[in-house]
Amino acid sequence: MNLFQAVYECLMTSDIDKKLSMLSNIQSYAGEQVFDLSPTASIERIPDPGRPQTPELVSPKALPRRRLGSPEGHAALMHSIAHIEFNAINLALDAIYRFQEMPEKYYLDWLGVAGEESYHFQMIREHLYNLGYEYGDMVAHDGLWMTTFETDHDPLIRMALVPRTLEARGLDVTPPMIQKLRSIGDKRGVEILKILLHDEIGHVEVGTRWFRYLCAARGLNAFNAFQEIVENYYYGDLRGPFNYEARAEAGFCDEEIAWLKTLNQPKPKITSEQSTSSSS
Ligand SMILES: [Fe+2]
Ligand SMILES: [Fe+2]
Repeated sequence: MNLFQAVYECLMTSDIDKKLSMLSNIQSYAGEQVFDLSPTASIERIPDPGRPQTPELVSPKALPRRRLGSPEGHAALMHSIAHIEFNAINLALDAIYRFQEMPEKYYLDWLGVAGEESYHFQMIREHLYNLGYEYGDMVAHDGLWMTTFETDHDPLIRMALVPRTLEARGLDVTPPMIQKLRSIGDKRGVEILKILLHDEIGHVEVGTRWFRYLCAARGLNAFNAFQEIVENYYYGDLRGPFNYEARAEAGFCDEEIAWLKTLNQPKPKITSEQSTSSSS
């Protein structure tokens, strides 16, 4: 089996169940045989990966805000997580297909991530179903894929921005979500999110490891490179509160944690008195 070809087909498949079963076939193959890693004739840019017709994708600002206390708000939170997990399958597959000159271990790592995302998606989808909704019933936004698409020219930038920035954000926001679900008595939701948090630390770690590998190969200082990429390419707002403990487990070094702490400081307020005295 040519891994890049098989992964491309899975990535472009829109039918959810078909995509999940194709992925599980690729994974079983990985457990038994060695992939053919010959590069594909061309590597396509993918503005639209395989995904179902719904959810309808809207701008993040157009997403309705609902209170978690209401049944709709509770389901909307699960729907948004289902959407993230579904996208995360495509993200991991694209990391394999697109960058065809990495060591074999890189592909096995991302295949492992894709498999865990599929497991996460299926758990959340089932939980959402028990709340009376299916994945696709609500609107969603396309931010995750947009960043993936915009970083398709360089694995170094991809590793910095997708696992180490977007997925790492999940480490920060999941503990407060767990608390909220606990407060409304959603035990199964709490259980699932704990699994997600645990596994996502591993995904960010995979990103960190390959980011450092690429920095070393190019003679770059990994700390400076990460900062520069975030400053030049990341249009979202990198701000706390950060889950420093989880980020450290995911491979963020002391220097990076110290830098994140500076981003977490509230901006100093400049009073008219200070501004006149400093300009004098
Ligand atoms: Fe996940
Ligand atoms: Fe992930």
